[in-house]
Amino acid sequence: MAKVMIMEHPLIQHKLTFLRNEKTTSMEFRSLVSEIAMLMCYEATRDLPLKEIETKTPVAVAKTKVIAGKKLAFVPILRAGLGMVDGVLALVPSARVGHIGLYRDPETLMPVEYYCKLPADIEEREVIVLDPMLATGGSAIDAISQIKKRSPKDIKFMCIIAAPEGLEALKNAHPDVDIYVGALDDHLNDHGYIVPGLGDAGDRIFGTK
Ligand code: PRP
Ligand code: URA
Repeated sequence: MAKVMIMEHPLIQHKLTFLRNEKTTSMEFRSLVSEIAMLMCYEATRDLPLKEIETKTPVAVAKTKVIAGKKLAFVPILRAGLGMVDGVLALVPSARVGHIGLYRDPETLMPVEYYCKLPADIEEREVIVLDPMLATGGSAIDAISQIKKRSPKDIKFMCIIAAPEGLEALKNAHPDVDIYVGALDDHLNDHGYIVPGLGDAGDRIFGTK
């Protein structure tokens, strides 16, 4: 069964407060999304496999550890997931980045896919899917189904704010995917927005409202 990890780190909680504030500008919002993604990535990469190597220091040969094998691929869900990419790449600069373009139909709330480009060697990598918002769960479920067709070694999902409805749906649809959540909110409103949430993440990142 999927592991669900709700972040309790004080730095994440503090930054989330400013992210939610309606007065936060797009410029501030972008930096906060990136900083929170970096902090969450630290947690989501905690179990990466290591191997031992020998390293010659100026004094002696030390047995040291490096991450084993091919490393990570990050897959942001467009558009809002793009806001998390800089932060995670700051921690894992050698990771590959794939992209999945999805938008929610405003009437049906069903995801509509318009783009998918994944790293050629994705089957040798662990994938972390990035999207700030998990609302009904439709977008994350669809994106992960697309990625599974390419058989990566493992898939994790990272979101900054989740609704209980979306979390439940994602756990049921993909019980093998561990989920990292910055904050678990109250509920979805009639328009499929997370309450209290932060509004439309894509619009706030790109200033398109
Ligand atoms: C937002 C968000 C998620 C999706 C979540 O994207 O970034 O991808 O909604 O909702 P769901 O869990 O109900 O599927 P949106 O469709 O607004 O597209 P955008 O990022 O291009 O603005
Ligand atoms: N997408 C968003 O950007 N915000 C929500 O609250 C729900 C879906």
